[in-house]
Amino acid sequence: MDIEAITPRQVRQYLKDKFVVVASNRGPVEFRTAADGSIRPHRGAGGVVTAMSTALVATDAVWISTAKTPEDIDMARKAPGHRLGMPIDKPQYWVRYIAPEEEDFEQYYNVISNSILWPLQHYLFDVIHNTIIDDCVHRAWSKGYRKVNQLFAEEILREIKATDKKPLIFLQDYHLYLCAQYIRRRRPDVLIHHFTHSPWTQPDYLRFLPQGIRKELLQGMLANDVLGFHTPHYANNFLQCCREDEAVRVAVDSKRRVVRFEGREIFVKHYPISIDHDALQKVSQRADVTRDRETLRALTGDRKLLVRVDRLELSKNVLRGLSAYECFLRQHPEWHNKVIFANLLYPSREGLLEYRDYRKQVEQKAAALNREFSTNDWEPVHLDISDDYPRSVAALMEFDALLVNPVADGMNLVAKEGAILNTRDGLIMLSITAGAYQEMRGSVLAINPLDIEETAQAILKSLETSGRKRKRMAKSAVEVVEANTSFKWFLQQMRALRRVEKQREQEQREPADISVTPRYESFE
Ligand code: G6P
Repeated sequence: MDIEAITPRQVRQYLKDKFVVVASNRGPVEFRTAADGSIRPHRGAGGVVTAMSTALVATDAVWISTAKTPEDIDMARKAPGHRLGMPIDKPQYWVRYIAPEEEDFEQYYNVISNSILWPLQHYLFDVIHNTIIDDCVHRAWSKGYRKVNQLFAEEILREIKATDKKPLIFLQDYHLYLCAQYIRRRRPDVLIHHFTHSPWTQPDYLRFLPQGIRKELLQGMLANDVLGFHTPHYANNFLQCCREDEAVRVAVDSKRRVVRFEGREIFVKHYPISIDHDALQKVSQRADVTRDRETLRALTGDRKLLVRVDRLELSKNVLRGLSAYECFLRQHPEWHNKVIFANLLYPSREGLLEYRDYRKQVEQKAAALNREFSTNDWEPVHLDISDDYPRSVAALMEFDALLVNPVADGMNLVAKEGAILNTRDGLIMLSITAGAYQEMRGSVLAINPLDIEETAQAILKSLETSGRKRKRMAKSAVEVVEANTSFKWFLQQMRALRRVEKQREQEQREPADISVTPRYESFE
C-alpha cells in the first residue's frame, strides 16, 4: 500500500491488537519546580523528541525514558500505574521513567554516550590530544552502559508481559545499542526496530573503538529486526562496517540491504526523520510565540535578522558560525548596523567539562564581537542561552537568513522547521554534512562547515539575494520539507516491521533453506 495514502485511522486499526513501546534516553517531557513552587512540564530537547512526540499521537504507546529530575520521579509515582499521559491535557500516549543509580547513569550517559559514541558518530574525536580510551571508559562500558541498557530492557519486558497484544518495540539512538539483545534473549519472538538519529561512520573511523566494544555494539544492534538510519549513506556505512570489520565479519547482502546474523536476517533501512507541520503551525499561533516575535522585531528594528537555533552542542559548530559572521562584518562594513545575528541556544550536556568550556568560548566570542563592532544603537550579536521553545519558534518565523552549519548532523530538524515556519522568505544556509542537506540541497545555500570564508560569503548572499530568487528558494524549501512528516517516518518503521512479521509467518509455513543463499558477500 502507498504510504502517502495511509491515514491515522488506518494506523489505529492496524495497531488494535499491537502494543507500541518506544524507548529513548531523553523523554518528551521533563518536570521542574518553578519559582512559585509549582511543578511545570518542559519539553525535552533534541531531534528524537521533536519527531517521536508527534509521530506517536493516537497510538496509545508507552514511551520509556530515564528520569531527569526528582520531580519526574515524583510525578510518575503519583500517576495511575506510574504512567504519565501525554499530552497532559489530552493523553494520546504514555510516559514511563526508569531511574538508574547515579553512578551507572553517569557512566552510561556522560562517559560512553556523550564522550565516546556521540563524538565517534559525528567524527569529533580529538585524535591528536584529548581522546583517550582508558580503563575508565572500559569500566563505564561494562558497568554503566550495559547496566542501563539492561534496565531499559527489563522495563520493556515488564511492559510487554503485562499485555496479550503483539509488541512492536522502537529503540532510539546511540544510548541503546545493547538493549535489543537483552530483550531478544528472553523474548525471541518480538519485533524490534532501532533507529540511529546520528550519522553512522565509515569502517575506518569505527575502528577507533576497542575491538571488544565494537563487537558487542555491532552484535547488539544486530539483535534488532530492522535498523533505521536517516540517509542511504549512513545505511551503507553500517553495512560496510558489518562486512569489513574484523570484530564481527557478518554476511551482508548489499543489494537487499540485509545482514545475516545468528540465523536471522536484519534489514537495514533509511527513512529521513521529519517534523509535524500541523502541530508546528499550531504552536506558531500561541500567544507566547506572538509575544516573542514582537520582542525580536523590536530588537531588530529595520535591520535584517540572521538567526541560529541550536542546542549548545560541539557538533553544531556555533563558534565557527560566529567567526564566519566576524569575517563577514570585517569584509562588509556597509552591513554594519544593518544586521543582527541572534544566537538562540539551549544549554546542553553541562555535566561535561568540554561543553562547559565550549559555552564559555561562545560567550567570550559573542562578547568580543559586540565589543569590537557595537555602536550606540547597535549590537551585532544577540546571544540567548536558555531553555526557551517559544523564543526559538518565534525566531524561525522571523529570520531573513538562518545559519545551520553543523560539523556533522544525523538530520537537523531546525533547517526543516525553519523552512516551514518562516514568514519572510528567509534563506537557509546548510552544511553539506547535515543529513537534511540530502533532501534540501536544491533550496538552500550550501556551506562547508569548516570553511568560514565560504560561510561569510553565504551570509552575504543570504542577505543580498533579491526578491524573486528568495521567494523561489523559500518556496522550494517548503515543498521539499512538506514531502515528509514525522508520521510518515514512523509509518515506514511500522511497515518495515510488518514485512518482517510477514516473512516470519511465511517461514513458519515453509521454512527456507537460507544456508544455501549465495547472495551474501564476505570481505576479503
Ligand atoms: C540528539 C540526540 C538525542 C538527544 C538529543 C539531546 O538529538 O539524537 O538522542 O536526546 O540530541 O541530547 P541530550 O544529551 O541532551 O539528551
